[in-house]
Amino acid sequence: MPASLRQHARRTLEELEAAGRRRRPVATGTGDGRLVARHGQELLDFSSNDYLGLARDPEVARAAERALAEHGTGGAASRLITGDHPPYAELEAELAALKGTEDAVVFGSGYLANLGILPALVDRHDLILADKLNHACLVDGARLSGARMIRYPHADVAALRARLERYRGRYRHCLLVTDGVFSMDGDLAPLAELSALAAEHDCWLMTDDAHGVGVLGGGAGSTAAARLSAEEVPLQMGTLSKAVGGYGGYLCAAREVADLIRTRARSFIYTTALPPATVAANTAALRRIRTDPALSRRPLELARRLAAGLGLPAPESPIVPVILGADRAALAAQEELAAAGYLVQAIRPPTVPEGTARLRVTLRAPHRESDVDALAGALAPWVRQTAAEAP
Ligand SMILES: Cc1ncc(COP(=O)(O)O)c(C=O)c1O
Repeated sequence: MPASLRQHARRTLEELEAAGRRRRPVATGTGDGRLVARHGQELLDFSSNDYLGLARDPEVARAAERALAEHGTGGAASRLITGDHPPYAELEAELAALKGTEDAVVFGSGYLANLGILPALVDRHDLILADKLNHACLVDGARLSGARMIRYPHADVAALRARLERYRGRYRHCLLVTDGVFSMDGDLAPLAELSALAAEHDCWLMTDDAHGVGVLGGGAGSTAAARLSAEEVPLQMGTLSKAVGGYGGYLCAAREVADLIRTRARSFIYTTALPPATVAANTAALRRIRTDPALSRRPLELARRLAAGLGLPAPESPIVPVILGADRAALAAQEELAAAGYLVQAIRPPTVPEGTARLRVTLRAPHRESDVDALAGALAPWVRQTAAEAP
C-alpha cells in the first residue's frame, strides 16, 4: 500500500477529531426492543427507528424462519435475473394495498431506492425542487440524475411558489421532492399545499416517507395522514428498515411508473435481490401494521406524553428533537443520559445545520409510560438550560 494512502487517512481523521466531527460505530447489543446493551450496561433505547418493536416480534420472526427454510439465505441474483423469488410478489402487493397505489417496487434499501428513482424519472432537461432539509439520499439521487436541483427553505410554501414561477417554464419535467416526516426534526411536510402547487405547475410530487409509514395515517404514512390520495402524491417512497422492522426500500406508484422504475432504475437492476427471509419478514410486519391500528398509534401517543412532560410543543411524529445548539452540549447531554441509563443519540452537523446540534429522541411502541416519564425527568434540566440561554 502506498504510504500516502495511510497518511491521508490518518491526517483526515486527526482533522475530524480536532473538529469534534469524527464518527465511530458503537457496538450495541440487541435487547428485547425496549432495552439495548452498550459497554456492558443496559440502556433504555430512545434512539432506534424500530418504532413498533417489529424487529423483535415473534410472529414476524416466524415468517422469516419459514422463508429461510423454504428459500435459503441469499437473494441469488438481481431481481431481473433469478432473484425475483416468490416472497417478493406478496411484499409488493402488501405495500400497494397499504398505500392505496396500483403497484409497488421493492429495492435493496431506502438509500438505494432514492439513488435509483430520481435518475430513472428525470435528467438534465428537467428540474428538481427539493426541501432544504431533505434526507441525504434524496440529495444524492437528485445529483445523480443530472437534473437542475433547486432547494427551497424548509417547508416554506411561499418560497417554493416563487421558485416555481421563476424556473418551472424553463424545464421539461419537474419533480417536487420532500421528506414526509423530517428525520431530524420530526415535523411533517405541508403535503396538502405541496400537492396543490404541484397540480398548478405540472410537477410530480414525491415523498420520502421513511419515518411516516407504520406510525402515521393509521400506518399508511404521511400521505394518508394529510388525507391525500395516491393521485395527489403519485410517488411515495419509503423504507422497510424503520417501523416495519426489517430491511429494504420501496416506491409505491401507478403501474406504468413502477414498470418504468423496474426497467430503468440502476440501483434496482444492478444489485442482488434481498434475502427471502427479509422479504417475508417485511410482509408479515406490514400485515401487522395494517391490522393493528392501536400499535401504529402508540409511538405518537408516547411522543406527545414526553413533550407534554417537558413543556415542548406537541410533536407531529414519534421523533422529538431537543435542540441544544453546540456540538459539545449535545455530546455532554448524551453522555450524562447514558450514565443514567438512557440511550439518546446526539446528532451533530453536517447531519443537521451548524449550531443546531441536538438530542434526537424516538418514541417506540415497546416503551412503557413509566419509561417516558422517567426520560422526561432526566431531560428536563437540559431543556430548561436551553430555554434559559435562548436569546
Ligand atoms: C428520510 C430517510 N430516507 C431514507 C433513508 C434510508 O433508508 P434505508 O435505511 O432503508 O437505506 C433514511 C434512513 O436511513 C431516512 O431517514
